[in-house]
Amino acid sequence: VDEIPDILSPEFATDPYPVYRAMRERTPLLWHEPMQSWIVSRYEDVERIFKDKEGQFTTDNYDWQIEPVHGKTILQLSGREHAVRRALVAPAFRGRELQETFVPVIERNARELIDTFRETGEVDLVDAFATRFPVNVIADMLGLDKGDHAKFHGWYTTVIAFLGNLSGDPEVAAAGERTRVEFAEYMIPIIRERRNNPGDDLLSSLCAAEVDGVRMSDEDIKAFCSLLLAAGGETTDKAIAAIFANLLAHPEQLAAVQKDRTLIDRAFAETLRYTPPVHMIMRQTAVDVRVTGGTIPAGATVTCLIGSANRDERRYADPDTFDIFREDLNATNAFSAAADHLAFALGRHFCVGALLARAEVQIGVGRLLDAMPDVRLKEGAATVERGVFTRGPESVPVTFTPVR
Ligand code: HEM
Repeated sequence: VDEIPDILSPEFATDPYPVYRAMRERTPLLWHEPMQSWIVSRYEDVERIFKDKEGQFTTDNYDWQIEPVHGKTILQLSGREHAVRRALVAPAFRGRELQETFVPVIERNARELIDTFRETGEVDLVDAFATRFPVNVIADMLGLDKGDHAKFHGWYTTVIAFLGNLSGDPEVAAAGERTRVEFAEYMIPIIRERRNNPGDDLLSSLCAAEVDGVRMSDEDIKAFCSLLLAAGGETTDKAIAAIFANLLAHPEQLAAVQKDRTLIDRAFAETLRYTPPVHMIMRQTAVDVRVTGGTIPAGATVTCLIGSANRDERRYADPDTFDIFREDLNATNAFSAAADHLAFALGRHFCVGALLARAEVQIGVGRLLDAMPDVRLKEGAATVERGVFTRGPESVPVTFTPVR
C-alpha cells in the first residue's frame, strides 16, 4: 500500500484533499507522533466529537494554543461558566442588535473599501478587500477610533502569525506575546471609559451585559476582543476570498449569483463545505472514547479534520464538486447550530459569529458584485490556496469594467 503523505508535508499543503480521502478510507483514526495528537477524518466522528453529547471532551488544549496571545477566552470555558459567558456575548451577534446596529457598520465598511478600487478595473480581492473588511468591521463595531484601525490591523497580523506558527519560530511566538501586552494596554483604558460613557457599540454592550447577576470583567472583555481578531477576522477573510475563487472557477454559477443575490447564501454555505477557512480544530479527551477505527485514550489531544469531514463521500454525493445547488446541503441550517457542513463546528462552541459572518458575506460579496458586474480572473492568473490549520486563496486578482 502507498504511504499517505503526512499532514505536515509540502505535498499536503499544496492539495490536502486527496490525502484526506486516503485517511478517511484507510486510517480514519491515526496517531500523529510529531503533533502528539490523534487525528479523526470522517464526518460522522468529527460531528460526534463537536456535539459531545456525553461530555467526553474538553477544550483544555486552548490553554497552550491560544491563551499566550489572547488570555482566557470563551473557548477555554466549559459547563455553566461557558453557558453564562455565551449568553452574555451572543445577543450582540444576532437579531435586532445585528440588524439595526451592526448591518449599517458592515455596509459602510464595504463601501469605503470598494471605493478605493471601484474606478480601477483591476484589483486583488484578497489584498484590497478580504484581509481588511472583517477586521475593519470588528474595529468599527467595537467603536474604536478610525485612526487606530492600522494599529488594530498590525495586531491582527501578529496574532494570526502566532496561531499559524507550526514550526515554532521563537520570534513569531515572542511577537504574539508582546501583542497580548500591547493590546491590553490599549483596550483596558477604552473599556473603562466606555463603562462610564456607554454608546451604541459592541464594547458598550459587552460592558453592560448581565446574566444571572454575572458581568464580564475588563480582562474578560479584553480577551474576548482579542479572540474576535482571529475568530472573526481571519475566518471571514478566507471565506470571502474562497467564494470568489470558487465562483470564478465556475462561471455558470457566478452568473446565477450575479442574477439572483439570494443565492449568495448558497454560495457561502457551499464554499464553507468545499473550502472551509478552518481545517483543523482540537479537543482533549476526558475519558477513553471509541471512534471509527479504534479507541482514543483519556487525556489525549484529538485533531478534528473539518476539511476532510466536509468532503466525506459518506455524507455528501460527489463531494469534490463545487455546486451551490447541491441538494444534500441545507443553506438554511448552514448558519445555525443545526449546521450542515462542519465549518463553524457544532455543539456548545458552535461559532457565535456565524450570523455576523453571513451578514458580512451577503453585504460584502453583494456590493463587490454590484461594482464588478463582469468580474473575471485576471488573464493568466490563478488562485493558489495556502495554509494547513487555516486555509484560503493567497490572492484573487480580477479585472472588471468599472460602473459609471
Ligand atoms: C467559534 C469558525 C466567523 C467569533 C468558532 C469555531 C469555528 C469557527 C470552527 C469553533 C471553535 C471550536 O469549537 O473550538 C468560523 C468561520 C467563520 C467565523 C469559518 C467565518 C466564515 C466568526 C465571526 C466572529 C466569530 C465573524 C465574531 C466576530 C467566534 C467566537 C467563537 C467562535 C467568539 C467561540 C465560541 C464559543 O467558544 O462558544 N468559529 N467563525 N466567528 N467564533 Fe467563529
